Amino acid sequence: MKFLIINGPNLNLLGRREPGIYGENTYESLCRELEIFAADHGSSAVCFQSNHEGAILDAIHGAQGEYDAIIMNPGAYTHYSYAILDALKAVDVPCIEVHISNVHQREEFRHKSVTAPACVGQICGLGLYGYRAAMTYFLEREEGQG
Ligand code: DQA
Repeated sequence: MKFLIINGPNLNLLGRREPGIYGENTYESLCRELEIFAADHGSSAVCFQSNHEGAILDAIHGAQGEYDAIIMNPGAYTHYSYAILDALKAVDVPCIEVHISNVHQREEFRHKSVTAPACVGQICGLGLYGYRAAMTYFLEREEGQG
């Protein structure tokens, strides 16, 4: 499978940003880990990160016909980007939404995801493992086990 991993605003600062919440691993090490995980499963993963909503929309549009699945952590855009919701609805590429932290244990504004309704499902609170869990779902679904 070809995976597109999209990370939204501030996730480039993983490892430095609020490590008590998001952990000490860097964004770069997350990407390496996911690339290796994909390769170990006969697949590929391309990581994309942006702090700009329009660039994320372009990446979602560009996934059509190029990728089999999107794994996306939209960061704070999760909570208010109707444009990302619409972009996910506009393409035929299935997406799982991932949050590193358990957003339901945090401030109330983080409890609502406007983007999740356009996703196959949502994973939150499992740390960086959530990205691999999402990939595993798609890999097993492809093999007819999901
Ligand atoms: C996050 C949760 C969001 O509320 C926050 O704005 C982020 C990261 C997470 O991975 O837990 O940037 O998506």
